[in-house]
Amino acid sequence: MRINKFLALAGIASRRKVEEYILAGKVKVNGKVVNNLSTDVKDTDIVTFENRTVRTNANFVYYKLHKPKGYVTTVSDEKDRKTVMDLMRGVHHRVYPVGRLDYDTEGLLILTNDGEITNILTKPNSEVNKIYIVHIEGDITKDDIKKLSSGVDIGDYVTKPCSVIALSASEKLSKLEVTITEGKNRQVRKMFASIGKNVVLLRRIQIGEIRLGGLSRGGYEPLNAREIRYLKSLKK
Ligand code: URA
Repeated sequence: MRINKFLALAGIASRRKVEEYILAGKVKVNGKVVNNLSTDVKDTDIVTFENRTVRTNANFVYYKLHKPKGYVTTVSDEKDRKTVMDLMRGVHHRVYPVGRLDYDTEGLLILTNDGEITNILTKPNSEVNKIYIVHIEGDITKDDIKKLSSGVDIGDYVTKPCSVIALSASEKLSKLEVTITEGKNRQVRKMFASIGKNVVLLRRIQIGEIRLGGLSRGGYEPLNAREIRYLKSLKK
């Protein structure tokens, strides 16, 4: 397989970008810098990018984690707060979180070493549904729901139309299910802030066809074959 295809499939970057990396001398095959874009690699070749071995499909692993609030979604935190990686201690592969959940947000986080899947799920126009349970202080009106679902100004951006369903509403607390296809920073919190509502609980329960299910807070498990098939179907 051509070196640029191999690196793109491994999720390093697009084929075009990967060619730039090759020409910049960042890629080695069996310890030697490659600068010929038509180089072919075999299964037995050891390919490195910036001196780190590039994994092929066979090494990919996929997990789901129920991130509790009070954890940062990074590999290490400069303020020494607990990170989601602290919860993944039993996993011996080097996995990375796909996207981010805020410190105060809980719920479904996918972790993998498959860079291509990470790129697909986190690109701004991925169109993959993300479903959140949102608890807010106070009541919610039909007009609020209409505003949220048609798109609101969250400061520097107007959100796309989305689905907002009220599960229960009262003067004290209301519960909603919100489905968005985007992932702007703190988007759901900002959407509710834009209509003057304070979010007291935010939990992601689904990404595409992957569900949080009954996983307890802080728990993780490998994705099952059906879930992995779904993720791989996004690659096409
Ligand atoms: N929206 C938010 O406000 N926070 C998250 O963590 C995810 C979506």
